[in-house]
Amino acid sequence: METNAPKRRDNKKSLRVKVISLGNAEVGKSCIIKRYCEKRFVPKYLATIGIDYGVTKVQVRDREIKVNIFDMAGHPFFSRGQSEKVHVRNEFYKDSQGVLLVYDVGLRESFDALDSWLGEMKQEMGSQANMDSIVFVVCANKVDLTKRRVVDEGEGRLWAESRGFHYFETSAQSGEGINEMFQAFFSSITDMCENGGKRPVSEVSVGFTKEQADTIRRIRNSKDSWDMLGVKPGATREEVNKAYRKLAVLLHPDKCVAPGSEDAFKAVVNARTSLLKNIK
Ligand code: GTP
Ligand code: MG
Repeated sequence: METNAPKRRDNKKSLRVKVISLGNAEVGKSCIIKRYCEKRFVPKYLATIGIDYGVTKVQVRDREIKVNIFDMAGHPFFSRGQSEKVHVRNEFYKDSQGVLLVYDVGLRESFDALDSWLGEMKQEMGSQANMDSIVFVVCANKVDLTKRRVVDEGEGRLWAESRGFHYFETSAQSGEGINEMFQAFFSSITDMCENGGKRPVSEVSVGFTKEQADTIRRIRNSKDSWDMLGVKPGATREEVNKAYRKLAVLLHPDKCVAPGSEDAFKAVVNARTSLLKNIK
């Protein structure tokens, strides 16, 4: 027992961690990393081929952290559906303590794609237990391009926080949010390592459920009132009312604190009213 003591003291001082970046091509993964590590921005697009690797050292409280950064190509050719790449991908996900999930606030498909990036990672990692030992940070990137923004803060934050992930608005171009994001990222990873490899519980309890968050997101993206209530076009009064009651219980502002729940609830009330007007 005694012989372990000096080793533990040494461990307290330095830590090696592995972080990876995930997200569609051209969302700004490499630029975010470059902005943090090299304090500069390159406007010209240089697609990452396969995986880029870099090392940086950071200080979190009394610890020195050596960070190995694996920056992944977002282009499907390099990541998905290529059988010869599977080995590379397995190695890539393995043993990471942190994941940067990046999307471009001006491209909705890059936001929607976060689910499949996460899905692919889960599949590769095997068990949910492994996912619980990883700190996730969602970067809503390119916030400098305000005019072309299509995914607002509420929507991004909801997706992230309902999963127990951090959410930051970033711009690799202006530098906005970059240092804050990395500081929170590394400090959470350190907390996690000090907590025996589990994400601290406080981070995951956000006061609303994933079902509530996903429902609000589905409602925001629904194409018409039928779709919003989750019933088939031509459904009966009973079916509409049943679907409405289920959503009302889930989203009533007295019961649901998720951002956007009040608007979603109002939208559901209006959808029901307009459908019932036209059903005999
Ligand atoms: P892949 O390596 O192909 O997966 O792309 P990536 O996600 O690494 O994107 P990259 O960092 O190479 O950036 C893509 C393009 O977006 C480049 O032209 C960047 O200059 C630009 N870009 C990245 N971040 C920002 C940002 O915050 N604001 C603006 N305006 N442009 C950005
Ligand atoms: Mg890149």
